[in-house]
Amino acid sequence: MQTITFIGNGNMGLSIAQGLKNNYKIEVVGRNLEKLDAFEKALGLKVEKHLLDNFDITEKTLLLCVKPANVIEVGAKFKGKARVVFSVLAGTSVAKLKENISSDAVVRTMPNLAASVGRSMTTMTGDIEFKEEAGEVLGSIGTTLWLDSEKELDIATGLAGSGPAYLALIAEALADGAVKQGLKRDYAMSVMRGLFGGFGELIQDIHPAILKDGVMSPGGTTAAGYGALEDGGVRSACMAAIEKAYEKAKQL
Ligand SMILES: NC(=O)c1ccc[n+]([C@@H]2O[C@H](COP(=O)([O-])OP(=O)(O)OC[C@H]3O[C@@H](n4cnc5c(N)ncnc54)[C@H](OP(=O)(O)O)[C@@H]3O)[C@@H](O)[C@H]2O)c1
Repeated sequence: MQTITFIGNGNMGLSIAQGLKNNYKIEVVGRNLEKLDAFEKALGLKVEKHLLDNFDITEKTLLLCVKPANVIEVGAKFKGKARVVFSVLAGTSVAKLKENISSDAVVRTMPNLAASVGRSMTTMTGDIEFKEEAGEVLGSIGTTLWLDSEKELDIATGLAGSGPAYLALIAEALADGAVKQGLKRDYAMSVMRGLFGGFGELIQDIHPAILKDGVMSPGGTTAAGYGALEDGGVRSACMAAIEKAYEKAKQL
């Protein structure tokens, strides 16, 4: 059984470890023994635990799950050269990872919040010889897509990485709108959740424009509401959100 060495014991590390634990041997490296114990407890499985200081990464397959700001500090604590680094760090380039962590190969990956329920939309790019292996490892928490460049990964980060926050805003606003018109809060939340559940299925196979045309009859209620969304600039605000997120990713 292949060993995956998690660097970092936080939320994203735990989500990925949950997805991998039945098919891989898990090892976790962190800076605090109590937090490593908590990681093991939450995972529900005995794992090898190590402190970061002087940890030998020689020939290891690393899953880097610390914060982008920690790369230099963490990299300085290792000795040896890893086989490959799979990184989940937002906005942290392959060049920066290679500069700070000695390894034969690097793959950048960008999971999203749905990793915790095994439904992440994860984009990946980097050393092409690890495309298949990255797909197997990150595939344990959902769907993966290999992209052609880091530029594409940084753009996709704004879409799928940040996307849950954008959709949460829309979800909350729609429910608030229903409450404003007099629907009880509990009902509004249930209806909104049902809406997103069904929509999540439909959008897999149907183009958004076709979905919209399907519900929007001439002079009807949907057309009235849709006009209000266009008046409010929702479309251009969504496009600007991706632009701003991409700009930010480039600055990290
Ligand atoms: N959460 C998401 O939805 C999401 C989505 C895509 C990508 N990511 C990426 O995933 C990475 C981890 O996010 P997360 O949500 O798992 O964060 P998190 O729960 O806060 O975990 C961060 C981890 O980094 C460690 N750490 C922090 N400062 C450190 C330092 N100075 N030296 C060594 N280790 C340090 C923490 O150690 P302690 O436990 O000891 O504090 C912890 O293990 C981030 O780079 C983020 O960009 C997250």
